[in-house]
Amino acid sequence: MNLCAAILLFYMFQLIHGQPDYLGFISIDCGIQVNSTYQDSISNMIYVSDYGFITPGENRGISSDYVKPSLVKRYLNLRFFPHGARNCYTLRSLVMGNKYLVRAAFYYGNYDGLGKPPVFDLYMGTSYWHEVSFSDAGAFNWMDIIVVAPDDYLQVCLVNKGMGNPFISGLDLRPLKNTLYPEVNATQSLVLVNSNRFHMGPTDGSVIRYPSDSHDRIWTTYNAIPNSTEISSTSVIQNNLRDVYDVPSSVMQNAATVNSSRIDFSWSPSDPSVNISSKYFFIFYFAELQNVRSNAVRQFDIIINNKTWNKQPYTPTFQVTDYFSGILHGMENYSVSLVATKNATLPPILNAMEMYLVKPITMVATDPGDG
Ligand SMILES: *[C@@H]1O[C@H](CO)[C@@H](O)[C@H](O)[C@H]1NC(C)=O
Ligand SMILES: *[C@@H]1O[C@H](CO)[C@@H](O)[C@H](O)[C@H]1NC(C)=O
Ligand SMILES: *[C@@H]1O[C@H](CO)[C@@H](O)[C@H](O)[C@H]1NC(C)=O
Ligand SMILES: *[C@@H]1O[C@H](CO)[C@@H](O)[C@H](O)[C@H]1NC(C)=O
Ligand SMILES: *[C@@H]1O[C@H](CO)[C@@H](O)[C@H](O)[C@H]1NC(C)=O
Ligand SMILES: *[C@@H]1O[C@H](CO)[C@@H](O)[C@H](O)[C@H]1NC(C)=O
Ligand SMILES: *[C@@H]1O[C@H](CO)[C@@H](O)[C@H](O)[C@H]1NC(C)=O
Ligand SMILES: *[C@@H]1O[C@H](CO)[C@@H](O)[C@H](O)[C@H]1NC(C)=O
Repeated sequence: MNLCAAILLFYMFQLIHGQPDYLGFISIDCGIQVNSTYQDSISNMIYVSDYGFITPGENRGISSDYVKPSLVKRYLNLRFFPHGARNCYTLRSLVMGNKYLVRAAFYYGNYDGLGKPPVFDLYMGTSYWHEVSFSDAGAFNWMDIIVVAPDDYLQVCLVNKGMGNPFISGLDLRPLKNTLYPEVNATQSLVLVNSNRFHMGPTDGSVIRYPSDSHDRIWTTYNAIPNSTEISSTSVIQNNLRDVYDVPSSVMQNAATVNSSRIDFSWSPSDPSVNISSKYFFIFYFAELQNVRSNAVRQFDIIINNKTWNKQPYTPTFQVTDYFSGILHGMENYSVSLVATKNATLPPILNAMEMYLVKPITMVATDPGDG
């Protein structure tokens, strides 16, 4: 074999290692042994090592004090970056102009024995994504960004800001149909932090993601509605939003309700980076789960920060998903009230919600060879 053929062969292997799987998913377990892969027993997704996605950095396992039986495999190892101000992962073989959900996951677990988690910045290409910080050494942190790819690859960069070495535990890429999340375009992205994507299911920490959600969005239980009770249905909830938010039936099959005429709760971004010049995008999802008798009426107003979002008194449709959405300025607290109208005989309900930071994105394609 001559040198050229050897180089070509090497390059091909490199590409294959850095490519999406048959679902178009890339699921990287950062810090595991070079070229190793494994299949997650719950989702059946294949996790791969970060070989071929990045060159610098070092692998390390978390401290044994933080290893628990409940800890998923991807959090046991990580890659950290003691050198260089900026280190980037390159996700290749994408389709330029298509939409993608990218998720970065972090678990410090005192891997460096310093007992002090670092604070660093995450970038999508040249655009600021979010700061990564931790409440304590055993805190998990993951964040999503929904973006349009400016080229046939995306770069996720970790930037050292002098507060400890950046590290990463996992990196996921999920392709989205271009009609999904119409708020996302070439100059605007949606960023999700603090797990702000909620269903109202059982409060035992049940998480809904792939395969229930074909886009592998992570939906966690919201249990902060005062005095609420849960109603649920085993029937399939018709997905009327296939082209916009594509909410799976399993997310809609539970709803929070109250034994009174109104659902009131206050929601806080709990994000120090949010101020009045930030923008938050809210989506509230509704579907009637009960067979409402002909003499009963479920009808309510959707009031966010004292402003009514529905134009007419709203009645959720039986077993069909519907939504209300809007963009508001960054605030410390948002108040959400679902208030039964005078004619209503049944209390309001809420099935699911998502809260995203709206972030500008600069679509300058950088050289993927950049380290
Ligand atoms: C990883 O895989 C690539 C391509 O298959 C190969 O060139 C490389 O030698 C492997 N590295 C290790 C450490 O096994
Ligand atoms: C993206 O959407 C925002 C908000 O609707 C709009 O202001 C902006 O012009 C759009 N950008 C592109 C490239 O369409
Ligand atoms: C919850 O219910 C209790 C008892 O009915 C009531 O005192 C309290 O004000 C309610 N809390 C809210 C936030 O509605
Ligand atoms: C609902 O509230 C009413 C009046 O406060 C009470 O009589 C009734 O028992 C409550 N029902 C449930 C299911 O909690
Ligand atoms: C809001 O925060 C951004 C950075 O997160 C900062 O650049 C901007 O000056 C802040 N604006 C106000 C009004 O505080
Ligand atoms: C909503 O209205 C109440 C009463 O008028 C007021 O105290 C509160 O500040 C308002 N909240 C917002 C977010 O405007
Ligand atoms: C935000 O809401 C929480 C919970 O209702 C409340 O304790 C807190 O005082 C509120 N903060 C502000 C600034 O309104
Ligand atoms: C409430 O019921 C009355 C009597 O049936 C009806 O005239 C009115 O239009 C209803 N209001 C709404 C908002 O549906």
